[in-house]
Order: sequence, then C-alpha cells, then structure tokens
Amino acid sequence: MNILGIESSCDETAVAVVKDGREILSSYIASQIDTHALYGGVVPEIAARAHCEAITNLASKAIADVGLENIDAIAVTYAPGLIGALLVGVSFAKSLALATGKPLIPVHHLRGHVASDFLTHKDLKPPFTALIASGGHSHIVYVKDYTDYSIMGTTKDDAAGECFDKAARVLGLGYPGGVKIEALAKNGNKDAIRFPRVNFPDEPYCFSFSGIKTAIINYVHNKEQLGEEYSKEDVAASFTEAVVDVLAGKAVEAAKHHTPKKLAVAGGVSANGYLRERLITLCEKNNVELYLPDKALCGDNAAMIAAQGYYEYLAGNVADEYLNAMPTADICKG
Ligand code: KG4
Ligand code: ZN
Repeated sequence: MNILGIESSCDETAVAVVKDGREILSSYIASQIDTHALYGGVVPEIAARAHCEAITNLASKAIADVGLENIDAIAVTYAPGLIGALLVGVSFAKSLALATGKPLIPVHHLRGHVASDFLTHKDLKPPFTALIASGGHSHIVYVKDYTDYSIMGTTKDDAAGECFDKAARVLGLGYPGGVKIEALAKNGNKDAIRFPRVNFPDEPYCFSFSGIKTAIINYVHNKEQLGEEYSKEDVAASFTEAVVDVLAGKAVEAAKHHTPKKLAVAGGVSANGYLRERLITLCEKNNVELYLPDKALCGDNAAMIAAQGYYEYLAGNVADEYLNAMPTADICKG
C-alpha cells in the first residue's frame, strides 16, 4: 500500500510517498530555515505563507514520481504544531482526498517521528520504549503497538530542542541552534561548567529543562557584565553534556522497565552526535537494543508521516471531511 504523506507543522514543508510503512518511494522537503534565520526563530505567520507557496510544487513532484493511480491514501500531520502552518497541510490533504476519492489519514506529528525508526530499521516492531526529543516536545513513551501509546514521562517545562535553540541564541550563534551548538561543543571541555540536571524522584522519566536554560543565560550574562573572558566552546560542551546526561540516562532507565528491552529514539535532537554516542554506550552496558533513526530522518519530513499513516490506516484511523488542525493533541489518542 502506497501512502502519500504531507507535513507542514513547523518550518519544513514536506511531501513523500512510502510503501507499506517501510520503504520510501519519493520524498521532498522545502526548508524555511534561511527565511526564519533572519528573525532568530520561526515566525508562525511567515511559516504558514511559505508552506502555502511550496506545497503544490512538492506534491506534484512526489505524485509524478509514483503516479497518482499508484497512491492508495493520503496521510497528513494534523497536530501538534503551529496552527497556521498545520492548516496549510491539512487543507491541501483534504482537497486532494476529495478530488481523488482516496482515504484521508490524520497523523500525530510525534507518532510520525517515531515512525522514522520504522523506515530506518525494517525489523523494528512494537512493543518498545521511545524517546522523542524535538523542538517542541520531550517525551518518553511506551509503544505497545503501532497505534497504542502510553506516556512514561514528559517535560514539565521546556523541550530539549528548544533549550538547544535558546543556548545558541544566548551564545550569539543564531537559529537553528542544535547543529551550531554541536559544532561548537567539539572544541570545548564538557567538564568546564556544571549545569543542573533535574530529577523528580516520584516521576523518574519526566524532564525539566528550564533550569538549565536559565543557568546558561545567567552564566553568559554574568561573564559579559563582569567583562570576563569565557569559552563559548566550553559552554556549548558543558551544556550538551548536561542535556545528554538527562535525556539518555532517563530513556535507558525507562527502556529497562519493559521486556523486551528496546529503545527507539526520534526527533530533531536525536541527530546530535553526543546523544547518539551516549545512548550507544549506555544501551550496550544495560543490554538494551537501541534503534537510532537515519540522520536524514531525524528532522521533520513527510516520509515519517506516510509511514505512520500506514499503521493508522490499518488500525482504522481514517478522517472524515471535518478533519481540523490542532495546535496540541495527546499522543496517546493519536
Ligand atoms: O523534530 P524537529 O525537526 O522539529 C520539531 O518537531 O520540533 O526538531 C527540531 C529541533 C530544534 O530545536 C533543533 O535545534 C534540534 O531539533 N536539533 C538538534 C540538532 N539538530 C536539530 N539539537 C541538538 N543537536 C543537533 N544536532
Ligand atoms: Zn518534528
């Protein structure tokens, strides 16, 4: 079964076709990074307009690659994300479904991220534990089945990716932050500064990143106010070390809670080399089977939406003509 996926929840417009949830037949992504970089972050209104501009061209290329007659259904990210941005993809998908008579499948963006691991690892099947770390979310979930999720922990405040973006901004690196912090960290000392790691004894798989965000802002501002020299490389490396300690530590502990001990990782932050290395080490030590997504599939893309769309369709999750976009939605409800 070939599914056309559409993604427009943030700053990437993407259209792809995936066969049986596992094989990418066609995939196009139009990034808006250069546009938003001018403003130091994503401007929702500009994002929505840029999606509107890009989507038809991307869809026509993906459809041309496969042939409209070979597409069996249309999957679209309906939540969570920037509402104006989501509405572009949802409206486009609804129109395409109406014009072609093909089924319309609503996909939760974060379930889509997890499906990037189905594209990378053909042998990965639920049940497994998943760490999802993106620009807007940090979740540890238990994926009992493709469409049966339960939450083990979430962030109580900021997401890990958001924290990378803020750290980059305070260091004057610009947007998007994650990649720039990672590059800078390569020449820094990870033990130079001790940034906070927050734990909740009663909620061991929950995160809090606001403390580390404030700590890095205060560190940099203090140094600047005192006119003292400091190493941005050390800040980037020490900050990364703190975030990686928390993300990897909690995720591996969560995976050990279930049988079989399998951990899948997804979301933009999972592209981070330090996080990947730490997860490999910790999983080996704890006999946890680790599934990392292809680096090219960590960020937002439509192949992951089409992949998850396949499993949503098999579970009977098909939308009617009243499908709407939602800025937030419970990953467990789909
Ligand atoms: O999943 P994603 O592409 O979009 C959302 O759904 O939010 O995640 C984007 C986030 C951004 O905050 C970005 O800074 C972060 O992922 N990110 C990284 C890296 N690449 C992207 N964070 C750390 N290290 C990276 N290499
Ligand atoms: Zn995302």
